[in-house]
Amino acid sequence: MAFPLFLIFLLHTNLASSSSSSSDLRPEFYAKTCPQAQHIVRDVMNKALLREARSVASVMRLQFHDCFVNGCDASVLLDDTPTMLGEKLALSNINSLRSFEVVDEIKDALEEACPGVVSCADIIIMAARDAVVLTGGPDWEVRLGRLDSLSASQNDSNNIMPSPRQNALGLIDLFQSFNLTVKDLVALSGAHSIGQGRCFSIMHRLYNQTGTGTPDPAIDPSYREELDRLCPLDVDQNVTGNLDSTPLAFDNQYFKDLVAARGFLNSDQTLFTFRETREFVRLFSKHQHKFFQAFEEGMLKLGDLQSGRPGEVRKNCRVVNGRAAHMLLESPQKMENNVQSM
Ligand code: HEM
Ligand SMILES: *[C@@H]1O[C@H](CO)[C@@H](O)[C@H](O)[C@H]1NC(C)=O
Ligand SMILES: *[C@@H]1O[C@H](CO)[C@@H](O)[C@H](O)[C@H]1NC(C)=O
Ligand SMILES: *[C@@H]1O[C@H](CO)[C@@H](O)[C@H](O)[C@H]1NC(C)=O
Ligand SMILES: *[C@@H]1O[C@H](CO)[C@@H](O)[C@H](O)[C@H]1NC(C)=O
Repeated sequence: MAFPLFLIFLLHTNLASSSSSSSDLRPEFYAKTCPQAQHIVRDVMNKALLREARSVASVMRLQFHDCFVNGCDASVLLDDTPTMLGEKLALSNINSLRSFEVVDEIKDALEEACPGVVSCADIIIMAARDAVVLTGGPDWEVRLGRLDSLSASQNDSNNIMPSPRQNALGLIDLFQSFNLTVKDLVALSGAHSIGQGRCFSIMHRLYNQTGTGTPDPAIDPSYREELDRLCPLDVDQNVTGNLDSTPLAFDNQYFKDLVAARGFLNSDQTLFTFRETREFVRLFSKHQHKFFQAFEEGMLKLGDLQSGRPGEVRKNCRVVNGRAAHMLLESPQKMENNVQSM
């Protein structure tokens, strides 16, 4: 009898009794409990960059996919379990989100230095900022103190995350529902200054944009030839192309490319073809520092999205802490199966 009671006590003490709101987030959150946290994150991100340049872009993208789905709570990092379909296999994420191992590596280093202190949700926020810094973009102070979720929802991700086929009006509405302005939308889309996308994401645009078997007319003809060569109709749709012409540099080339009708995704190019967003694209294409400033503001707002649900500091970003205690209450055989499937 004492054993399960002890476990219940453990579970309770590990869960924060009250959930955090964005006003509780602050830059110095780990100043006393893990002063070297930001340094450790930057260091592992730098190693990841040297190992595979694209990986830092892939990690930055996690902030968007995490924060839009029930707030910035590292729900996107949870692996599926027999009783929970997580977000990794959701429509926008399957065969697409990547570099989770970089987050694992950061978490391992932080657990070594300050066990049980730094949340996976905060790791994403710090690492996303570092991806920008390490590829030549601006540096800024991030707010910290998020908790990690106790669950994830594939359905919510499917319902929320935008398709690359979206146009500017749909994107404006979506971002507005998170209190993000048109300027935030255009600036944050500038994240596509680094990284790559799959042919899968542009096949429709290249071959059947309007459902009549014709391409998107808003593509510069010579760029379309390039894309057609990269992604012929019978291509392996996992083949990737650059999201802008300088995919390893965080700069305003993305916006220059949009002005030149050389945007990779439909959702990118539409920011220039639609009147509602065009002036911001033009502005950022001319003034890199205005893009950088708006991007920082957008990332801070995106990072402030919170679900208000209870959370914890996960020990392993892929699983909730409660799971280990739960398994102890189950039969040894089941426990063994669970361990193997992890
Ligand atoms: C505005 C709506 C957005 C749409 C529709 C969108 C869509 C996409 C798509 C379709 C891809 C390529 C995925 C693939 O083909 O596998 C992609 C890549 C990427 N997205 Fe977005 N995205 C949006 C906004 C954002 C935001 C706000 C961020 C970050 C702040 C972001 C960061 C990235 C990055 C860095 C990549 C490249 C990842 C890599 O190379 O692995 N995106 N996005
Ligand atoms: C999943 O999302 C759909 C809307 O697309 C909704 O009708 C349905 O109730 C959701 N299912 C669950 C289990 O939340
Ligand atoms: C947007 O702002 C309104 C008014 O301040 C607030 O009630 C609402 O919760 C906010 N929505 C999000 C998703 O933060
Ligand atoms: C193009 O899209 C339309 C409408 O969705 C569809 O009926 C048609 O089969 C598609 N054509 C090709 C070549 O995929
Ligand atoms: C991409 O690769 C994955 C796994 O390697 C495979 O399951 C999937 O079908 C491929 N996707 C496309 C669009 O070809």
